[in-house]
Amino acid sequence: MALSASTTPAFPVAPPLRRTTSASAAATRGRPSLSSNPLNLRPRLGPRFWPWEKVKLGPLSVSPMGFGTWAWGNQLLWGYQEDMDGVLQETFNLAVRNGITLFDTADSYGTGRLNGQSERLLGKFIREGPSKVQDKIVVATKFAAYPWRLTAGQFVKACESSLDRMQLEKIGIGQLHWSTANYAPLQERALWDGLVDMYEKGLVCAVGVSNYGPKQLIKIYNYLKSRGVPLCSAQVQFSLLSMGEDQKELKAISDSLGIRLISYSPLGLGMLTGKYTISKLPRGPRALLFRQILPGLDPLLNSLREIAESRGKTMSQVAINWCICKGTIPIPGVKTVEQAEENLGSLGWRLSSDEILELESAAKASPRKMIQNIFQTR
Ligand SMILES: NC(=O)c1ccc[n+]([C@@H]2O[C@H](COP(=O)([O-])OP(=O)(O)OC[C@H]3O[C@@H](n4cnc5c(N)ncnc54)[C@H](OP(=O)(O)O)[C@@H]3O)[C@@H](O)[C@H]2O)c1
Repeated sequence: MALSASTTPAFPVAPPLRRTTSASAAATRGRPSLSSNPLNLRPRLGPRFWPWEKVKLGPLSVSPMGFGTWAWGNQLLWGYQEDMDGVLQETFNLAVRNGITLFDTADSYGTGRLNGQSERLLGKFIREGPSKVQDKIVVATKFAAYPWRLTAGQFVKACESSLDRMQLEKIGIGQLHWSTANYAPLQERALWDGLVDMYEKGLVCAVGVSNYGPKQLIKIYNYLKSRGVPLCSAQVQFSLLSMGEDQKELKAISDSLGIRLISYSPLGLGMLTGKYTISKLPRGPRALLFRQILPGLDPLLNSLREIAESRGKTMSQVAINWCICKGTIPIPGVKTVEQAEENLGSLGWRLSSDEILELESAAKASPRKMIQNIFQTR
């Protein structure tokens, strides 16, 4: 990201060296110890990647990694409380000061009375965050294919409501959150027309999709093309725990059509960070899923740990870097400054091809993968 000269040191800036509370806890799990940073240097602020590593997303250009904001407002799954907002603002500020320009959200994020909270917070953080980078930030929001959104006009209204919540004049990428092809195929065309209309009205810079499989992706690509609207991105669950044939096919098709793949849940909802074990599970519904997957995950977690140790990185950084090496833009979810700081260390370096192979064969040896989104199409 092109920060102004006054805020931009020579880049890329070294990966984070400052130890934080969470990082010192991490050291006990085999991460690099303080001795690897005898001077206890603080990271300099500025992009953690070279300018040419910025990624084209349709007409936009973004950091090679974005951050996801599903947790911002979600009490049920992610334990959000409104008193976390100060920390979330700091987390956002740290990210943008270090060159992150892409933030993913959705109009359905936020539970109960907090519906839409992720968009509200993101808009507020942009307004109240570092002023010099405001115009560089690309918000990618998703519009839910709710059953009551039956016409293109209703979908455009959804976009206008998101703009209101975020108090933005224009959204970077307006994404269709999921396809209704599996259960309400007639609704699908209205939603596609809605995307066309919001693009033509100038409410969004570009349009994208989410949870589309390869076949459905080709269909919407062709339809949008016939209406003169380019499809810029496809968001899909993509990680070392979700790298099946569908993801491979989707990547190949996206590449051939010039569509950028955005990987969601790149940390397997937290499982690939190495901090959860069968006796240390997260609170809430994630525990049910983790209980099924973690018992077979040792080969992959050991491989992540070994590569992380040999490189002086953390397991999360290796897992996110793998997504970047596969040619996707990962959007790890972050809830704290420490998580953002750690995940920023995924940038500015690359796994070797041997390491990638090693990770993938360890992933294949793990018996259970992530469950796929119920709305994911073929
Ligand atoms: N299109 C879709 O249907 C869809 C679906 C899912 C997600 N998404 C998007 O993708 C984003 C990312 O996916 P996700 O949030 O589902 O999962 P994820 O990125 O795989 O995991 C995120 C969670 O892992 C933990 N974490 C993150 N960094 C960490 C670190 N360095 N050390 C330790 N723990 C860390 C945090 O939770 P804890 O601290 O609680 O463990 C965090 O909320 C979402 O925020 C959302 O924007 C889109």
